[in-house]
Amino acid sequence: MKIKEFIGDLGHYQVVKTEDGHETLKSEYFDEACHSTSGAWEETKYNYFEGTKVLEKYCSDEILELTIFEVGFALGLGPHVVFNELEKLNIKKKVTFISCELDLSFIKWTLNKSHFSEYLKSKNAKITESKNYFEVHWKNFSLFIIKGDIENTMDVISLITDNKIDCVFHDPFSPNKNPNLWTVEFFNHLKIFLKNDVILSTYSSAVRFRKALLKSGFYIRARKGFGRKRTMTLASLDSTFADQEVMKQVENANVEPFIKNEMKDE
Ligand SMILES: C[S@@+](CC[C@H](N)C(=O)[O-])C[C@H]1O[C@@H](n2cnc3c(N)ncnc32)[C@H](O)[C@@H]1O
Repeated sequence: MKIKEFIGDLGHYQVVKTEDGHETLKSEYFDEACHSTSGAWEETKYNYFEGTKVLEKYCSDEILELTIFEVGFALGLGPHVVFNELEKLNIKKKVTFISCELDLSFIKWTLNKSHFSEYLKSKNAKITESKNYFEVHWKNFSLFIIKGDIENTMDVISLITDNKIDCVFHDPFSPNKNPNLWTVEFFNHLKIFLKNDVILSTYSSAVRFRKALLKSGFYIRARKGFGRKRTMTLASLDSTFADQEVMKQVENANVEPFIKNEMKDE
């Protein structure tokens, strides 16, 4: 990526180098970078690919087709890491990766100008655009990027696939910048599309967010965070996934879960 900045529908994005030699973008509109400066690629691999056990699920005989949902497409590192890792294996199982992005110019930039676009070109991937989403296909891999605010467009998932989701890469901006995507209402809606043994992974350990997960019926556990981050959060709808101690701490914490349209306060 030789470009140092670009202008999307939501303002300027500035290219920032991360410690693993990869690049991320800082959004002027959200006033936040898309990845930690410790390493965009390594962070994505650790937080999401490993956090949601993509490899184990892909290799499992119980899963005939792997379905992943990501909140926040940005530079496409989510699908880039997944496809890059899974194509090393000699398994031809279908992978459907569904992402979403608020800034339509950002989607176009990533599909045409980013590291990910070079990867897609090298695969001769076929890219098409329709009313609700962009579609990218090659071999056994399919990527769909739902256009617009995922709070309003989540039901598009059911136009893309009948499969329930195995893994969720929950990667919006932080609760302070992207408050509605960390709420009870958001997770109650998302739940409809998930398998019972889904694994949702995210970098945040905010107690009010964890309470929102519990309130919407998820079971949670904590995991060491990436780089300098102390902890992150994993969640499932399967009760055996719960870490009882973490669940109790969150239940007993004297805070309210994040709910939709409240004032930014954390
Ligand atoms: C932290 S970045 C995601 C990074 C991305 N997963 C990657 O690895 O390149 C968050 C992204 O979510 C997008 N976003 C924020 N709010 C959104 C919303 N309501 N609906 C869809 N996308 C949203 C932002 O525009 C931004 O591109």
